[in-house]
Formats: sequence, C-alpha cells, structure tokens
Amino acid sequence: MCGIVGYMGDQPAYPILINGLHRLEYRGYDSAGVALLDDAGLHVHKCQGKVSDLERHVAGLGLGGTVGMGHTRWATHGSPNDINAHPHVSSDGDIALIHNGIIENYAAIKEELAHRGHTFRSDTDTEVLVQLIADIRRSEGVDLPEAVRLALDSVVGAYAIVVLDQRDPNVMVAARKSSPLVIGIGENGEHFIASDATPIVEHTKNVVYLEDGEIAVIERGKGLKIRNIKNQEKTPFIQELEMHLEALEKSGYDHFMLKEIHEQPRSIRDSLRGRLNLAKGEVMLGGIKDYEQKFIRAERILIVGCGTSWHAGLVGEYLFEELARIPVEVEYASEFRYRDPIVHEDDIVIAISQSGETADTLAAIELAKGRGATIIGICNVVGSSIARITHAGSYTHAGPEIGVASTKAFTAQVTLLTLMALMIGHKRGTISGSRFFRLLNELDAIPGKVEKVLRNEAQIRYIADIYKDATNALYLGRGFSFPVALEGALKLKEISYIHAEGYPAAEMKHGPIALIDEEMPVFVIATKGGSYEKVVSNIQEVKARKGKVIAICTEGDRVVRDLADHVIEIPETPDPLVPLLSVIPLQLISYHIAVMRGCNVDQPRNLAKSVTVE
Ligand code: M6R
Repeated sequence: MCGIVGYMGDQPAYPILINGLHRLEYRGYDSAGVALLDDAGLHVHKCQGKVSDLERHVAGLGLGGTVGMGHTRWATHGSPNDINAHPHVSSDGDIALIHNGIIENYAAIKEELAHRGHTFRSDTDTEVLVQLIADIRRSEGVDLPEAVRLALDSVVGAYAIVVLDQRDPNVMVAARKSSPLVIGIGENGEHFIASDATPIVEHTKNVVYLEDGEIAVIERGKGLKIRNIKNQEKTPFIQELEMHLEALEKSGYDHFMLKEIHEQPRSIRDSLRGRLNLAKGEVMLGGIKDYEQKFIRAERILIVGCGTSWHAGLVGEYLFEELARIPVEVEYASEFRYRDPIVHEDDIVIAISQSGETADTLAAIELAKGRGATIIGICNVVGSSIARITHAGSYTHAGPEIGVASTKAFTAQVTLLTLMALMIGHKRGTISGSRFFRLLNELDAIPGKVEKVLRNEAQIRYIADIYKDATNALYLGRGFSFPVALEGALKLKEISYIHAEGYPAAEMKHGPIALIDEEMPVFVIATKGGSYEKVVSNIQEVKARKGKVIAICTEGDRVVRDLADHVIEIPETPDPLVPLLSVIPLQLISYHIAVMRGCNVDQPRNLAKSVTVE
C-alpha cells in the first residue's frame, strides 16, 4: 500500500527520497510524488505511474534542498491520477502533507472547511487534512506541530503522515495512528522517516518506532522530540534495526519472488533455530511462555488472517486438531470482524500476518481482545502493529519479504504453527512420545528437503512452459494438502492472472469436474500418506475426462507417475509436514508461468504488499 519516506539532514534530500521510494515500491502503488524545501520554498512534484515516471517527470529540474519527503500512493479515495497523488498542498501553498491510511470523517471536515471558504483540487481525504492543518495554523496562530496536533485530535481514522511548512523549513512533523512510522536517527543530526524500515536501513540502524497517537517533531539542530496527542512529552525509545541491506536486494536473482522462494531452506531453518532442541526433545517458544498454560488448557483455538496467512491458518487447523486435539476454527479476519462472532475468555486466538499491518487482521484482534480472548501473534515484521497489540507471539524470522506474492512467509508461518502444535500436543499428552520425537527430527530435516525440491527447478520450468497459455487451472488436495491447493491457486492467479481454483480433491465431483477438458491443467498434491489412495482415484477421474494432471508426488511413486501427465517429486515426510515441501513446486510453477507471460511478478497489478485498508 502507500509508502512514506522523509529526510532532514546535510545531504541533498532528493536522491535519498527517490532511493527510498524505490525501496518502497514492493508495497504496491499507482502514483508517486516528492516535496522538497529549499531557500526558494516548497517544491512539489507528483504523477501517476511508477517512481521511474516521477524521475522522468523531474529530470533536469535540479531539485535541491536538504529536507523533503516522498510518497507512493495506492488509490483509495479517488482514482490514481496526478492530482490525487501525494504530497497534497494547502491552498495557501505553504504546507505539504503525505499520508498513509484513511481519514474516515473527511467528508464532514471537508464540508465545514468549504463553508469557511476552502476549495479542493483532489478527491482525496488527505487534501482535507492538509487544509485543516493550514486552517488551524492560521486561525489559532499556532506553530506547525501544534496545528498538526489539534487537527489530528479532530480526525477519525488511520494515518501515518509527514508534514512540511515552507515558513518553517527546519521543522518536519510526523504522526501515526494505526499505520506504522519509523524514524531513523543518523549521523550528524540526520533524520529519516519511513512507513517501514526498508528506506532507512542503508543509512542507519538506530530507529524509533512511533506509537499510536504520537507526534514526532524533527527540528534541525535540536533533534527529535515526541509528544502525544494530549501534548505530553515522551522519551524516544531508540532500538537497533534487525534488518540487513542484502535482504532488500535481489542478490543476482531476476525477481524478489524467486530469491524468496530460494531462501526457504534458510528461512525455515531460522524459524526453527533456538526453538527446536533435538538433544533434549523439546520445543521452546519463549514468546508465548507466559501463556503456555492457557494454551494447554484451551478448549478452542480461533485462527484469523487474510490471503496466504489464512491458508497457513488452515494448515494450523489440521495441525492443532491432529496433534493437540483442540478444536480449531479458521476465520477470514474480514468476515470475523463484522459478524458478531462468539469468542470466549478461555479461547486462544492465533493471528497470522506477514506484514503485521493488515487492517482486517488488526480489527479482528481488537474484537477478540475486547471479548477477553488471549491473542497469540505469528508475524514476520518485528515491531509491527499486530506484533505489538497481541498478548504474546512468535516471530517467523523469514526476513523481509519484498515480492507481493507471499512465499517464504507462508512456509515460516507453517513452521511456527507446527512447532506450536507439537509443543502443545506434547504437553497435553495428545501425541505419543515416539511420534513427537519422530516429528521433531523430521521437522529438523525439512530445510534440507526443501533444498532438494528446489533442485527440480529446471523440470518445473519445463512444465510451466507447457501450461503458460492456460486460461484456467484447478488445484486439488486432501487433508493437509487442501490448504496447499488453495495457496497454489492463489499464487498462480495473483501473479500470472490465470484464473485458478483450489478445491478439496473429493469436492471436485460436486461441481468443478464440469470444467475439466483437455485444456484444463489440474495440479494434484498426491503424496503418500493418509488419503493417498483417494487422491489417486481423483486423478483417475480427471484423466477419464481428458484433463491434464500435474501431480506433486512422493519420490519414487510409480503409480502416480503412470497416471499423471507430469510429476514433480518431493522427498517423503510425514503428513503434517507435507505442506512445507509440496507448496514449493507450486510457488515455482506460478513464478515461471508469470515470467513467461511477461507479468510484473514482484508487483502484480492492483495488489499491495501490506493491505492497510479494510
Ligand atoms: O501481511 P499479511 O500476511 O497479513 O497479508 C495477508 C494477505 O494480504 C497476503 O497474504 C496476500 O494474500 C498475498 N498477496 C498472498 O501472496
């Protein structure tokens, strides 16, 4: 979604801002803009399109100034065009503002401002906010930080904003509510602001995460001051950023998605590190230690998430029910939040989110928390909103995921859910000691097996070439492989724009079988284990209707090899761990099909990396 970057220091601001905007491109956006302050005043440039379009737009202008801000916009209010792009400027031309989030009461404020003679150029809620700040600044005779504070006090909604005023070029004001902002503290009084740490990490590792309702004032020569909306001063809490620049580079891969698919042996290993102790036969999850007893006694688990994180939640349902014998309900966060769900005080709610900023998941957590449930987070982004509002949780340690299509985050989430289910099952006595130890050892072997699956990439690319022109695809799986079928279909549709459906394999005969003909590729996860024979029958049903079967099967499986048009073999592993392996070929096949179709793999159309609007 929208991205923010700001700078105040001794260096020319423009190159820092443009570089920062490129770092933020992964979030998804449709227009970009910058505002710079120099001796001649405020200069705002913005346009629809990519950051590179903005660069062309300003080429040759020689933008100067050592303070400025940049924005990538993902349209919510008003279409993606030049006028609606940020920064927005007050009618007097003094104040510029960039904004992530939504001002919910903007219509009422706009009406009031219109009565007071203000006019508006754009369709955005953001322009209303900048006019409100300018109005307060003038009518109350206050400085910029105070005008921002008073304006935000009357605003309902979510925001992360940065504000500049050409009458006060040595001050930059930023504020947040329900939308993240991080401030980087560099050398020699330099300050950076960003909606996530990606534009900051190459400049400094010292950061302050703004809390909800806080306003940061950065003043040249005086540094950073933070106060809250009630005007109480707060001491900035400086933390060290746990992010490395290499994680934000493609490191020789053509796309971030491909790099992230290949990182999975490492990211799964990192998610297991320090948590799985084979010598002692133990799972240790320090982040949920204080809630372990509650977890063990839980009579029900609710899992909330969206998209791929919801698919991981479905794997979690199978894991907890089989290993810990606790009933689980998996809910789309967006549905959960709006349907007055039944939540008990002794429920455990597991909230899953890569970004930790997904608006619907945040709202679902608030709702469940309000009803007394214990909320356990599984997040990838350290310090994210979800990580902060949950009672406890475990980070996935996948490292920054830049590709919009989630890959390594999914396997890291499933890894964490597996650890949790094993730990709780063991402590509840619902799995035998021998099965527990076997699964621990098998889990430990997963990164090596993922490496082996990745070595099949040439064969997977060959299959992708055959099916790259398909217009529809079906994904089938049973048991633990059903959520993987859903995930495989989501991966294909979101990056290659081929219509794809995931189904429990047995459901096929209740409708989707009507779609099958010689044009239809059907991806079937048919690994040895629980429902193997049933899935083999499903493959026969597809073949009887001339469908093309691409089977993900266990190494050496001659039966499936003889039936299917193509097989991609994965190493043998117990059923609960199969998703960690079977999803890999599906990620790769989607990736290669999308590349062959000329799609923008890392930034698919209309999609955003972190969905901060409901
Ligand atoms: O950051 P989150 O995990 O909360 O994001 C949830 C979904 O928006 C995300 O998984 C989305 O579906 C991805 N594009 C899937 O690849």
